[in-house]
Amino acid sequence: MLEKIKKIKNKAIEEINKAKSAEELEVLRINYLGKKSEFNQILKGLKDLSDEEKKLVGPLANESKTEIQTALENKMGELEDLIDMEKEWIDVTAPGKRIKKGHYHPLSIVQRDIEDIFTSMGFEIADGPEVESEFYNFDAVNVPEDHPGRDMQDTFWISKDEDREKGTGTVLRTQTSSVQVRYMQNHKPPYRIIIPGRVFRQEATDASHEHTFHQFEALVVGKKVSVANFLYIAETFFSQFFGKKLNVRLRPSYFPFVEPGFEFDISCTNCEGKGCSSCKQTGWLEVGGAGMVHQNVFEAAGYERGKYQGFAWGFGLERLAMMKYKIDDIRHFHGGDVRFTKQF
Ligand code: DAH
Repeated sequence: MLEKIKKIKNKAIEEINKAKSAEELEVLRINYLGKKSEFNQILKGLKDLSDEEKKLVGPLANESKTEIQTALENKMGELEDLIDMEKEWIDVTAPGKRIKKGHYHPLSIVQRDIEDIFTSMGFEIADGPEVESEFYNFDAVNVPEDHPGRDMQDTFWISKDEDREKGTGTVLRTQTSSVQVRYMQNHKPPYRIIIPGRVFRQEATDASHEHTFHQFEALVVGKKVSVANFLYIAETFFSQFFGKKLNVRLRPSYFPFVEPGFEFDISCTNCEGKGCSSCKQTGWLEVGGAGMVHQNVFEAAGYERGKYQGFAWGFGLERLAMMKYKIDDIRHFHGGDVRFTKQF
């Protein structure tokens, strides 16, 4: 009997030490200490033994049981340590997990690109209010009350004084040209600035018209500024922005704040002037308006007439972003659909 107990105990401890998982241990526990185990049968049978035998077998059986239990507990502790280590183990060769992070809106990306290029050419960035006086938005840039130019822009009026004194109404600015005279009043030429900003118009929206959009104004003023300067700066800017050599072409046009005024095109960014569906086979893409600053604008800023020359240009930021990223509908920009913005 004593031999048997020792044998069971030794075998149990040996197997417990070899166990590799908590499940295996549990099986061993049931086998060796469970109700139906050989060991339990022995303990149960103790009562039938003689007193002499009880004295020998009893303590040994109890001791062995405790030893098996201790072995089980120790092994369990070891296995738990192993599991913890496995959890903490870092596989340095595992492929990285993509971390979700915020990113810029395509318009911000384009705005930053534009600002980088212009500041590298020595331009400063100027700013003005979105809720603007009628004076700076219209009168100061040579668009008097009855001028047909005012009809060109359907305006959101904040307040309008019917028998108004000159320029006392308030509007959501319809163009970044509104910042021109604000800047001129506080600075002495020469200067070159860009004015990025949000503008508003009462538009029926469609794929190429929005009521809220962004413009970019450039203004260069000095004693000897010419159309040639404009051409050079425009060609440099667009070539850098699109990453390829582009040409700029001028077409005569009319804007109240410039004389002469023109619209300008760049050679098609897709076919580089050969003619394709993007440029309707013309080889050119319309970009914006520009011209030599009208002396009336300088006068509105308090400059002496004829003392300075300058050029101004304006274009839509969305349009430029649409060309660069081949976006087909301007309404995507403010649509708030993350499936769109996620692509940038
Ligand atoms: N402000 C004009 C518009 O909103 C764009 C523009 C045209 C700006 C000619 C200029 C310019 O500075 O010279 O349509």
